[in-house]
Amino acid sequence: ANSSLSKDEKLLNICKLLETNIEYYNWVGFYFKNGDKNELKLGPYVGEPTDHTIIPFGKGICGQVAVSNKNFVVPDVSAQDNYIACSITVKAEIVIPIFVNGENIGQIDIDSNTPDPFTEADERFLEFVCQKVASIL
Ligand code: SME
Repeated sequence: ANSSLSKDEKLLNICKLLETNIEYYNWVGFYFKNGDKNELKLGPYVGEPTDHTIIPFGKGICGQVAVSNKNFVVPDVSAQDNYIACSITVKAEIVIPIFVNGENIGQIDIDSNTPDPFTEADERFLEFVCQKVASIL
């Protein structure tokens, strides 16, 4: 509704809204496919700064979602062998792809410091958020 904001400002506001209001969402950010390269690039986020501003397709939870086009819910990050740690406080992660015209163009990535916090309700809610995000890109 507020068209005076840039896309990145809107995306950052969504990150802030989610991180502020859902206590087990501790890092919230967007990754987008980086042009024609087989990699993801970090977009707007809130939470601890991360070194992982570029993630090759297939690498980590995010990189796997770039290839699978499917939600990835990780109840316990320590049980994942293909995982990129951003912070030692993180216990769980959820990544939901964003589709524009049926194409997986990026994702929302959420880290939690709470073990096994994500339910199917989080998946349905974040799928809805991602549909709304797709409509402003
Ligand atoms: N843990 C992610 C990397 C991104 S950070 O969580 C911000 C992964 O394994 O892909």
